Amino acid sequence: MIYADNAATTKMSGAAANAMTACMQDTWGNPSSLYSLGQRAKEALEDARERIAACIGASPKEITFTSGGSEADNQAIRSAAQLGARKGKRHIISTAFEHHAVLHTLKRLEGEGFEVELLPVGALGTVTAQQVSEAIREDTALVTIMYANNEIGSVLPVSEIGAVCRERGVIFHTDAVQAAGHLPIDVRAQNIDLLSLSAHKFHGPKGIGALYARQGVPLTNLIEGGAQERGKRAGTENVPAIAGMAAALEESCSHMAENAARVSALRDKLIFGLSRIPRSALNGDPVNRLPGNVNFCFEGIEGESLLLLLDDRGICASSGSACTSGSLDPSHVLLSIGRPHEVAHGSLRLSLCEENTEADIDAILKAVPEIVTYLRNMSPLWKDKVSGKRAFVL
Ligand SMILES: Cc1ncc(COP(=O)(O)O)c(C=O)c1O
Repeated sequence: MIYADNAATTKMSGAAANAMTACMQDTWGNPSSLYSLGQRAKEALEDARERIAACIGASPKEITFTSGGSEADNQAIRSAAQLGARKGKRHIISTAFEHHAVLHTLKRLEGEGFEVELLPVGALGTVTAQQVSEAIREDTALVTIMYANNEIGSVLPVSEIGAVCRERGVIFHTDAVQAAGHLPIDVRAQNIDLLSLSAHKFHGPKGIGALYARQGVPLTNLIEGGAQERGKRAGTENVPAIAGMAAALEESCSHMAENAARVSALRDKLIFGLSRIPRSALNGDPVNRLPGNVNFCFEGIEGESLLLLLDDRGICASSGSACTSGSLDPSHVLLSIGRPHEVAHGSLRLSLCEENTEADIDAILKAVPEIVTYLRNMSPLWKDKVSGKRAFVL
């Protein structure tokens, strides 16, 4: 099997699995219990918090554990919105191609009287700090802009955006779910107030994440109950998953530069090979791009058919975000960069990690052109295009 869907989820690392097993077998007490078994679990929890904080330049008390990236996004945005509303600020700036965890939360807030402004992301799928600066108003409560896009891999100028927000006194949240463990993060140097993480995108377990909130930025509870996480997130902490997350993030961060060099070389070989397919186009920023992301549109095919035929050859890929697969709507990300509906349906995302090999890339580069040709030969739409009855789009 060739796994090329690391943006959907990653295989758990040995270090993460070992840390989890140790916790489940030895440190399985409730961290709120006073006897020593509980206190050992509490130590494991706080040790993980310290290590995760260190990986992003935060202090441990600025880290709140959540059930994943979605919850962290929800809590970050709701917290900043409430804080703004108390000061009469109800304007929120974001982008058109955020993850649904952000966009759907913003939709809810619109229903609650907030005004949401989604900045256009242009053909390359990015925004500039200048765009953000021009959009900020007196009543802006929050800027929420992702660090890197999960579908097309564009890496956004987060440091510049952070600087603008800090200068103008506006809270800045970034969804760093696709960036953490792959790109350097320093919340202080980058002027980030709120940041979302999810362990399963960097070889940690699923169902665990964290929200960094700069000291002084109060969090609103989404889950009421006990006083865990300094009263900001009720529920007995999932200590094994948290320990696994810390081990995975530390490992990813300590090998970041060498992994990025290796993976981006594989990515560039894949991009070069796929761009030779006629009527194909790379999606996303060719330069400021996640090391492992390859995303193409192929005119005249259905992404789903391509995925099924790749699966027959043992290749795991995606045609958009995992959350939207199963829906027939074209990806909002591809529409946001101006791809027409018809072309957006023919997209393929291959997301690599350091475990992929040259042989994987060669196999993908053999399979994709063959399958694209096969599907096009069966497509009446493609035949109309070739005969000139319909125009090509790409
Ligand atoms: C950019 C981004 N944000 C948020 C999420 C949601 O994270 P989780 O699956 O941990 O809830 C994802 C997951 O695909 C993502 O890619």
